Amino acid sequence: MVKICCIGAGYVGGPTMAVIALKCPEIQVAVVDIAAPRINAWNSEHLPIYEPGLDEVVKECRGRNLFFSVDVEKHVAESDIVFVSVNTPTKTQGLGAGKAADLTYWESAARMIADVSKSDKIVVEKSTVPVKTAEAIERILTHNRKGINFTILSNPEFLAEGTAIKDLFNPDRVLIGGRETPEGQKAIHALRDVYAHWVPVERILCTNLWSAELSKLAANAFLAQRISSVNAISALCEATGADVTQVSHAIGTDSRVGPKFLNASVGFGGSCFQKDILNLVYICECNGLPEVANYWKQVIKVNDYQKTRFVNRVVSSMFNTVSGKKIAILGFAFKKDTGDTRETPAIDVCKGLLGDKAKLSIFDPQVTEDQIIRDLSMKKFDWDHPAHLQPLSPTNNKQVTVVWDAYEAIKDAHGICILTEWDEFKKLDYKKVYDSMQKPAFVFDGRNVVDANKLREIGFIVYSVGKPLDSWLKDMPAVA
Ligand code: NAI
Repeated sequence: MVKICCIGAGYVGGPTMAVIALKCPEIQVAVVDIAAPRINAWNSEHLPIYEPGLDEVVKECRGRNLFFSVDVEKHVAESDIVFVSVNTPTKTQGLGAGKAADLTYWESAARMIADVSKSDKIVVEKSTVPVKTAEAIERILTHNRKGINFTILSNPEFLAEGTAIKDLFNPDRVLIGGRETPEGQKAIHALRDVYAHWVPVERILCTNLWSAELSKLAANAFLAQRISSVNAISALCEATGADVTQVSHAIGTDSRVGPKFLNASVGFGGSCFQKDILNLVYICECNGLPEVANYWKQVIKVNDYQKTRFVNRVVSSMFNTVSGKKIAILGFAFKKDTGDTRETPAIDVCKGLLGDKAKLSIFDPQVTEDQIIRDLSMKKFDWDHPAHLQPLSPTNNKQVTVVWDAYEAIKDAHGICILTEWDEFKKLDYKKVYDSMQKPAFVFDGRNVVDANKLREIGFIVYSVGKPLDSWLKDMPAVA
């Protein structure tokens, strides 16, 4: 029986391995992590991450051929294929701080694999890593190998949170990079055989190691670039009276462009886009390509601009001050159908409003109070490190309340900011909402989910990203 072990039971390791276990009943899959609470949660009724369809997959395989364990060394030692899916944060200190990937967790995983292995292994990079990481990992493994052969593959993951199970069941492509040596090719075939249990072979792309590593960074940079492109156009729409939804529809119907990832919003978030672009920027700089680095840096700058612009709209519309005013924040996760708040634009928007002394009442159907308070107290880039390494600065807790009901968040508020596109925010009884608020009542729709005209008929002053502005807002421009 082939044995697979995955180091790192996070958003990628958990769902990916659960699907491999489901689709390959004859393979034994162990997911291991140093974080005991996370493993306990994987073994409980309440999985540590919210992902539609995940519960069913885990329930079917757990205890059969899928196991979650803190016994990292035992499972690594026993396995034939070791996936490494640990976090790869942005460095916060030293050379490349604020840009380069911090490979501390990856390196310690590689050293541990070398230490405990007693048989040959295929080691698979599942984490997103800088180009040429495989070379560094190979060196660690071969210098400590004690006669054991390690073959390294790059198999970056393209799942999107919120649709992870759907994406894993039916991926656009699976990418496997390996050395062009006989051992490298043999390892590629072994991993291809695993995916071939359910993925058509023509969708399994085999490349060299560096192409696979770079493709993942480039794919995320292209996706984020589309969002920043449409967001840049949204600012121009507001200035000219064009409607970004109409413009993006017109752009997206061109088959060379396509319709996806063209929704204007308060900005992109999530654990990957910013981190991976910064990483790409750093690699370009290290390779003497400052023009290329600056090109990609601009994608992040536009994203930051969009968040600042949103906060400025809120403040300027409300008579240039939100001091002491209650603002309801609807949605904190970086997108719907996930509880993940890593790099969510809500953090910067909330911090911006708190900076102007607003009182925030926050509701998200999937994010806990504890998580929100942590996020608002944490410094940039610290979120991707273990809890004990996250220095927290005190938030003014009196300015923030977290509630479990949208109507409660909204009661007596002067304004509402919609920051995540949860479906339930479309279906609120906005007449009831209006009646419970201070007047004038504002809605700032950072995800373009509400019907602005209907809300205006009720009496709201509405801001939608990239849409023709209410005359109220025209008179109070947001100077970013
Ligand atoms: P995560 O933070 O949810 O999970 C990583 C896990 O690794 C943590 O539970 C941590 O305790 C564990 N870990 C760290 N060092 C360890 C060690 N030495 N031994 C055992 N466990 C260890 O991260 P996530 O989101 O799963 O991402 C993992 C990688 O996949 C990152 O490189 C990320 O960029 C990439 N990725 C993430 C996607 C996403 O949507 N979240 C999508 C595609 C790639």
